[in-house]
Amino acid sequence: MPHYRRVGEVPHKRHTQFRRPDGGLYAEELMGVEGFSADAALLYHRAIPTAITAAEAVPREPDPLTPNHPLKPRHLRTHALKVGGDLVDGRQLLLGNADVRLSYVAADAPSPLFRDAVGDEVVYLESGAGVLESVYGRLEVGRGDYVVIPASTTHRWVPAPGVPLRALVIEAAGHVGPPDRYLSRRGQFLELSPYCERDLRAPEEPLLVEGEQVEVLVRHRAGITRFTYATHPFDVVGWDGCLYPYAFDIGDFEPITGRVHQPPPVHQVFEGDNFVVCNFVPRKVDYHPLAIPVPYYHSNVDSDEVMFYCGGNYEARRGSGIGQGSISLHPGGIAHGPQPGAYERGIGVEFFDELAVMVDTFVPLKLGEAVAACEDPAYAWTWANRGTT
Ligand SMILES: [Fe+2]
Repeated sequence: MPHYRRVGEVPHKRHTQFRRPDGGLYAEELMGVEGFSADAALLYHRAIPTAITAAEAVPREPDPLTPNHPLKPRHLRTHALKVGGDLVDGRQLLLGNADVRLSYVAADAPSPLFRDAVGDEVVYLESGAGVLESVYGRLEVGRGDYVVIPASTTHRWVPAPGVPLRALVIEAAGHVGPPDRYLSRRGQFLELSPYCERDLRAPEEPLLVEGEQVEVLVRHRAGITRFTYATHPFDVVGWDGCLYPYAFDIGDFEPITGRVHQPPPVHQVFEGDNFVVCNFVPRKVDYHPLAIPVPYYHSNVDSDEVMFYCGGNYEARRGSGIGQGSISLHPGGIAHGPQPGAYERGIGVEFFDELAVMVDTFVPLKLGEAVAACEDPAYAWTWANRGTT
């Protein structure tokens, strides 16, 4: 995240003496990606951030992933999955490969302190509200927010009481950010970008939590380790830099439309290593006098396409059983497109009231264990007018 930000107290000059009221030195921590050669932040802790008193492997079943074989379009009804738990331990793995894993969770309890050392996380909040607490401070989040958490950021999720915090969790095995083509050579959002710096929210003040013997779960490539820290990691009095968690409300995405159908890349929000995130938001649609506003049939030669239907009505899928909370997987190797009748029905329509988040991966996705608990087995046959209607 190249947009510079400064929160709380930081010294005038980096790497110089910065003292607590009792005269002791604050501990400066640099969080930087790609060694010391890319975006970074400098954080100032009351206590040293390296003081661990225990480390234990958390026994956990490996998440089994099975190939999508025989190759089929899939429809997963996430609202049929279990509700409850927290936003870290309650993740139910649906789809994954070596680059990215997609899970669904309906959280009703605060999570443990957590750090994903494998890569960045993008958490899309379908409904509910809550707070992301982190070493960077407090960030209020809610329905429609993408919350981007850089790798190795210690944080925890606290859902607001009442309705569960429903979320699609995108765990990358690398870093995630705006597409390069949205940014100037020095990292400013360009005029052609559908969103810009003003649309991003980030922590505004430090948390300054006190505590001792605090447990933190760390996801790393070999598994999960539970560390115990001598002092609370949320003891940062200030930080600055270009690496921090932020939220982006999907409602602030300004759709790009045209006289004829625009391809999915105009709907892109983020890119990761070997995957992209796009969204389809309520918008005026194609206005050529002979336009067909619903998408043409298409073969994703080099990608698997995941759609998470999170609001409105999705015109092209009417009659397929797709509804709020549905996830469809349209894999490479087989064409996909509108349900029978949608092509004709869409002609003359001027506005689509749809909301969907799309993840396209460039390596085939495998199926997680939670698929069995929520798959609609009839979906693959719905274009042939069989199965659910
Ligand atoms: Fe598609």
